[in-house]
Amino acid sequence: MKDLEKFKEIDFNKPSFLFKLSDSLVYLFGGAGFYNKYIESIPLTGSESILDFGSGGGNAAKILITRIPDGHLTCLEPSTCWIKRLKKRLGTFENVTFINDYIENTDIPDNSFDVILIHHVLHDIHPDNRVGVLINLSKVLKPDGRIYIREPMKKSHGMTYEEIRQLFKDVDRNEHEFSIKTNKEYSGIYS
Ligand SMILES: C[S@@+](CC[C@H](N)C(=O)[O-])C[C@H]1O[C@@H](n2cnc3c(N)ncnc32)[C@H](O)[C@@H]1O
Repeated sequence: MKDLEKFKEIDFNKPSFLFKLSDSLVYLFGGAGFYNKYIESIPLTGSESILDFGSGGGNAAKILITRIPDGHLTCLEPSTCWIKRLKKRLGTFENVTFINDYIENTDIPDNSFDVILIHHVLHDIHPDNRVGVLINLSKVLKPDGRIYIREPMKKSHGMTYEEIRQLFKDVDRNEHEFSIKTNKEYSGIYS
């Protein structure tokens, strides 16, 4: 109950002016060191099928797509505001699909993706819904696929690494690598 009381719901359909401005600035500076270093560290051959879960304005997606010229990127983003930005920024690529919905409402076939990226999304999902989301993501991941997750660990708006690990344990996923940065970021790789 304590965790639920602490959960801060954000209306991503109506992001604040400052949120949109910071998204635009990060995009202008090509990831501003925050996105590019992390996304470029993901090992890829260039032909993967990738799901960017909760793409937002596409700051991660824009870097990802340049790394998979022979692959395919699916951007799932429930907010109509952010999907507009995503389409504007990535719409010229042929190997991208946009889904403006929640994963539970989609008909993505099982075993579709080699890689699923969850970049600063899980902490924004209500705690009651997180396991359900991971169950749905597990279904669309190929048996030898990997989930890359990066989440803030701020007390005011984030998750502890114990919570993240427990959620993946609950859906029978194994942590292969992880890192906890001094700037309070957790990143992990699960299969
Ligand atoms: C902090 S933003 C991160 C966006 C992007 N991944 C990035 O790192 O720039 C969180 C995103 O998660 C999306 N989101 C929230 N709940 C979601 C859900 N249940 N399923 C998928 N995406 C969700 C929001 O609409 C928002 O775009």
